[in-house]
Amino acid sequence: MGLPIVDEEANTQAGPSGAARRLRYTLRVSVLEQCQLDCRYCRPGAVTSPTEAARWLRPDEHGRLAELFFARGIEKVRFTGGEPTLRKDLVDVVAAWSRPAIHRGARLALTTNALRAAPLLPALKNAGLGTLTVHLDTLRADRVEGLMGAGACVDAVWDTVDVAHALGLPVKLNMVVQKGRNDDELAAFIDQSQARDVEVRFIELMNTGSARGYVKEVFISGREIVDVVAATRGARPLPRRHPSDPAALYQTHDGVVFGVIASDTEPFCSDCDRLRLSADGRVRGCLYQPGGLPLGAALRAGASDAALLTLLDAALDDKRSHHPLVQVVRQPFSMADVGG
Ligand code: GTP
Ligand code: 5AD
Repeated sequence: MGLPIVDEEANTQAGPSGAARRLRYTLRVSVLEQCQLDCRYCRPGAVTSPTEAARWLRPDEHGRLAELFFARGIEKVRFTGGEPTLRKDLVDVVAAWSRPAIHRGARLALTTNALRAAPLLPALKNAGLGTLTVHLDTLRADRVEGLMGAGACVDAVWDTVDVAHALGLPVKLNMVVQKGRNDDELAAFIDQSQARDVEVRFIELMNTGSARGYVKEVFISGREIVDVVAATRGARPLPRRHPSDPAALYQTHDGVVFGVIASDTEPFCSDCDRLRLSADGRVRGCLYQPGGLPLGAALRAGASDAALLTLLDAALDDKRSHHPLVQVVRQPFSMADVGG
């Protein structure tokens, strides 16, 4: 692990605490930290402590925790990693959440690099998956390996989108915008969005600390991203679908809706409703919170549901009562480590 990031500006950005937060949560469930790709800003090589497979929560353990999370107001579960499709039992994990989710009207989503997703989608849909997000940083075959690592493939993304649509799953596409590397492709992504019926979200590169030099070199702000699109296609601001959505929405002159996620320059912490569950069952209220409360370990040690709920409530209280950005010192991490 490298040096902590000192973030003095963050001190000024505290949001509401305590009762001001609503009891409506999105849970991001990381099912493992590994990924086949090597995006320059994420670099699985920078994963500090991948959980060994024996410590990954099993589907039956996911099922038990799902009941507890839903009892506390989770409305949406997003499965992430690492790359979630590398888990051979991913369908069982999703099914474990979907059984209790159905009673509560909660939605299930998956974020994937699409390399292995297409053949799994019918079973995932049967298991309760409702929406898909694919990740792609370039449309150009000559850039894809340099930006995302060996094995990355543009066609695999489109094949996955086709299969998802055939199953009736709506698809979003995440692109992390990098100056001088792919920021000349924004219009091309808008065109693909229209042609393939996917909602593109242009993501501002977050300085998680795992690739600081690279971030410095290629960072481009959400504002600049909007300006680039506005110059050629127009960018009329639209209201967010929900205040806690990370993406600000815009519409081009010809009606294409796209999102911009500006986590660093326009933090949305005060509206954040996310909780995170790591592959081994640690629960965190924030991406930047190190460690997390050991719900999975307690479960394996034989804790009762009541004791597990007490731990979960402690995590919720923590989220409600302190603003994570108030921490002056942040530990560097890779998104894959925490569950992007
Ligand atoms: P939907 O709203 O369902 O589309 O999901 P999402 O946008 O939360 O999911 P996605 O996995 O597509 O994440 C999109 C981007 O949001 C990530 O690439 C991050 O840049 C950013 N993001 C996700 N979680 C957090 C978080 O907890 N804090 C911050 N600051 N940014 C986050
Ligand atoms: N900044 C912004 N987004 C990132 N992701 C991973 N690392 C970063 C980063 N440093 C994104 C992935 C994926 C999503 C879950 O998180 O691109 O789409």
